[in-house]
Amino acid sequence: MNYGHFDDAHREYVISRPDTPLPWLNYIGQDDFFGLCTNTAGGYSFWKDSRLRRLTRYRYNNIPYDLGGRYIYVNDGGSVWNPGWMPVKAKLDSYECRHGMGYSRIVGSKDGLEVEMLFFVPPGRNEEVWKITVRNKSGAVKKPKLFAYQEFCFYEALNDMTNYQRTWSIGEVEVEGNAIYHKTEYRERRNHYALFACTRPVAGFDTDRDAFVGLHNGLHEATAPFAGKCSGSMAFGWNPVGALEVDLELAPGAEESFAFVLAYVEQGEAPKFDKPFVMNKEVGHATLARYSKTSDIDATFAKLGAFWDGLLANFQAELPDEHANRMLNAWNQYQCMATFNLSRSTSMYETGIGRGMGFRDSNQDLLGFMHMIPSRARERILDIASTQLSDGTCYHQYQPLTKKGNAEIGGDFYDDHLWLVLSTCAYIKETGDLSILDEGCGYADKKYKLGADGKKIKAESLLHHLETSIAYTMKKRGPNKLPLIGHADWNDCLNLNCFSTEPNESFQCAGDVKDSKAESVMIAGLFLYASREMAALYDFMKRPDDSKRMMKSRAEMMDAVEHAGWDGEWYRRAYDAAGRPIGSKENEEGKIFIESQGWCVLGGAGADDAPEATRGRARKAMASVDKYLYTPKGVVLQQPSYSTYHPELGEVTSYPPGVKENGGIFSHNNTWIHLGWCLLGEGDKALEYYLSICPSAKQDEIDIYRSEPYVYAQMTAGKDAPCFGEAKNSWLTGTAAWTLVALTQGILGVKPGYEGLVVDPCIAKKWKGFKATRKFRGAEYHIEVKNPKGVCKGVVSVKVDGAVIESVNKAALLPIFPQGTKHEVEIVLG
Ligand code: BGC
Repeated sequence: MNYGHFDDAHREYVISRPDTPLPWLNYIGQDDFFGLCTNTAGGYSFWKDSRLRRLTRYRYNNIPYDLGGRYIYVNDGGSVWNPGWMPVKAKLDSYECRHGMGYSRIVGSKDGLEVEMLFFVPPGRNEEVWKITVRNKSGAVKKPKLFAYQEFCFYEALNDMTNYQRTWSIGEVEVEGNAIYHKTEYRERRNHYALFACTRPVAGFDTDRDAFVGLHNGLHEATAPFAGKCSGSMAFGWNPVGALEVDLELAPGAEESFAFVLAYVEQGEAPKFDKPFVMNKEVGHATLARYSKTSDIDATFAKLGAFWDGLLANFQAELPDEHANRMLNAWNQYQCMATFNLSRSTSMYETGIGRGMGFRDSNQDLLGFMHMIPSRARERILDIASTQLSDGTCYHQYQPLTKKGNAEIGGDFYDDHLWLVLSTCAYIKETGDLSILDEGCGYADKKYKLGADGKKIKAESLLHHLETSIAYTMKKRGPNKLPLIGHADWNDCLNLNCFSTEPNESFQCAGDVKDSKAESVMIAGLFLYASREMAALYDFMKRPDDSKRMMKSRAEMMDAVEHAGWDGEWYRRAYDAAGRPIGSKENEEGKIFIESQGWCVLGGAGADDAPEATRGRARKAMASVDKYLYTPKGVVLQQPSYSTYHPELGEVTSYPPGVKENGGIFSHNNTWIHLGWCLLGEGDKALEYYLSICPSAKQDEIDIYRSEPYVYAQMTAGKDAPCFGEAKNSWLTGTAAWTLVALTQGILGVKPGYEGLVVDPCIAKKWKGFKATRKFRGAEYHIEVKNPKGVCKGVVSVKVDGAVIESVNKAALLPIFPQGTKHEVEIVLG
């Protein structure tokens, strides 16, 4: 591995050279203030919503890809360099980037001078800290000058990068002491501003980009750092930046630490101005006061560490596999936090402008987050639900700042609503909190209703939404009694009603779904699962009639799946608008798809206890996945990939064979197969498949894989592509949540249940066992699973605090204990 290694003890990935095969990203921020930070300090920051409240500027698809960010230029006696290598790219004597949980630490050295940059956002705060430490490791006195630089953004990111006839005339700043106040649009409608300051005295500043960089220069040859001084420029229009100069004098062996702080400040009720054109900076002063001492900075950083220790402590394990071990204990959970916070909005591939929070995406992201901060999960579920419409359809995406559905994409993706059932049931199993079902969340088109006392209250409850969702699928069915697909189901690119021949239209929005006939077997499988979840929820609520009603709908859907969905060797994928099967041996290309195998199996179709006519189909379907779709780099989405464009199938056929939804290894849906193997008791297969897409296991082929080896990427090129094995779209993928579910609930089998914590492992035979610590409903379970006979599955004995308890259906059901208590659990498989 040429580029780095895991430091598991510190939960860090250590990058040892800056020219990684692609920019390797980390996120800073965990609540409302976020930043992207690459291994060369590239990236930008925003508050809550990267489209509507972007604080610093970034140019996507730049040359090189990653240019612009939190740059420190060092001028050491005329030699100019950056500790993160970019943008000057001077040869460094040493370089190291440690991406950790919520922070990145980049250290570079040259000619006996070492500069360390530590970037993080303190928990609960709306600012980021760049802690800088400069060390003179040479034998002589050094007088380095440091120039911190980043470019302000005009908050609304799309406008910022398209509407220069306005934006080049609006920029305004104020400078006071060591601080630059970015106050563009503050005189008019904004009641917030950005602030960039240094915690020690500065020797100079620039706020005008052309003055700091030079009108005809690139960032690698910026005027001020090469000249060795800032010019004190005051931006008026054009492009305001925050640039601060710090001049140091360090004796041999001496070091100095201080910080730059980038803050987002809301003015609140305080008056906006002290006098015309002079801001009232009190809130800004109070923000900066928190960082006046280096010890304050260190204490704040320690809080971030404690925050992550606490979060990750909810689930820790000792597993016999190093990759599964580190992914579970740190990186996979960490990625789940990112997808929970950012859905699919902002990464190196998502520009923070196009997509906000996805309805289906965020519901699935919740599955990997629930155990960490259930209160935030609760709030998110209610936010998502309120973007559903009263007829059952959902806004496909919504904007995090306004929490309003995006009208441009609209709705009519006929899987969206069902994911709400999964997230809600998972939340209640995790917390036991049934009160969420009574919360009035309202529909996007019907926010309020009249209460018994005639007063307006939020319409309708979350439970009403779940019922609406189930009813919607039952209502929206086609000729084969399978659910209609609408614009698309989970596979956003299977657009069976689109028929697009116009290159400028969106595959997802084009086409009329009214009176459409195309059906999805995948949604049918998802419905089998969701309706069974609803039935179990009603059982728990002691509402047996409602539970039966759910199971009746499920039985009806099961008939349709087994009748029209089965192809002989696997489950079909869909029926197109003309009623022809897709994902069938009858097709020339796209004969077999992964999604319907995953969901029909997880939904209970063709199960071992099914009626004789359909019994065993699940095993057959999974064997077909193994035979036709599996590769050692993961399972491809379908085979054969489509070689030509089919208007009746949509975007899926627009991609060249082997990438994205056309035969790519789409990590997200692989995880459903991992769970499928667990359901069938095939622990060896589950682990083999799990490892096939595990990023940590890609380090030996990193020149092919190229993406970050510490987080999942959405897609790896499949076997039909010339770049088989190359990963793209890292970070924001539903894989994060689902793979955590597959590993913890499938392979380790530790699943929250309504009545207690279930433990039903499905491990590889070679595993002698494992240990896990799981916090559940306030108690801590220390679980040791032993596998003396080398089986995959089947609990034969359970001891809790030394006392034997009965296993239920060859699984352990651990009781719910009082808050704050700790319990020792010993489970033997056999
Ligand atoms: C989208 C998901 C979708 C998946 C498969 C992702 O980019 O965010 O909503 O399910 O692609 O098409």
